[in-house]
Amino acid sequence: MLRTAIYPGSFDPVTNGHLDIIERGLTLFDGITVAILHNPAKKYLFTVEERIGMLEESLKKFSGVSIEAFDGLLVDYAVQKNAQAILRGMRAVSDFEYEFQMALMNRRLNRDVQTVFLMTGLRWIFTSSSIIKEAACFGGNINGMVPPVVQQKLKEKFKQ
Ligand code: PNS
Repeated sequence: MLRTAIYPGSFDPVTNGHLDIIERGLTLFDGITVAILHNPAKKYLFTVEERIGMLEESLKKFSGVSIEAFDGLLVDYAVQKNAQAILRGMRAVSDFEYEFQMALMNRRLNRDVQTVFLMTGLRWIFTSSSIIKEAACFGGNINGMVPPVVQQKLKEKFKQ
């Protein structure tokens, strides 16, 4: 039986920390669907189409990865995709409460879908899409934190 996972998130935009989780997730799962879902707590900089485009470009080198967008409950999407697991990255203690709450709510909604956490690589422990956007917005150097396509798109976005 093929083991597949959903890697859900806002990906506004995708960072090298996300790519690290996907690369390591592929050693555990036969396939990963990177899914852009709606986080009601966030205001987005990029449209869903823009985020898909950046993910496609950044994930070209990986096989076994697909990219989709879904508007609804994550566990419903996991069932629709026949996925056994939800994959999430965890950085510092600050991520824990939110991730714990979300994993338990998802488990309450559907006990058959497991959440699997990978600790972020040390290199990425301080990065997030939000902090990278903030640095880029004020002209900070974000070299090496995001894929080249994202660096370019951020530059264009903040020039506008
Ligand atoms: O990258 P993010 O913003 O931390 O990802 C959060 C996301 C999009 C995975 C989460 O908000 C989500 O799953 N949204 C879909 C609705 C849902 O199922 N929420 C969780 C249970 S109520």
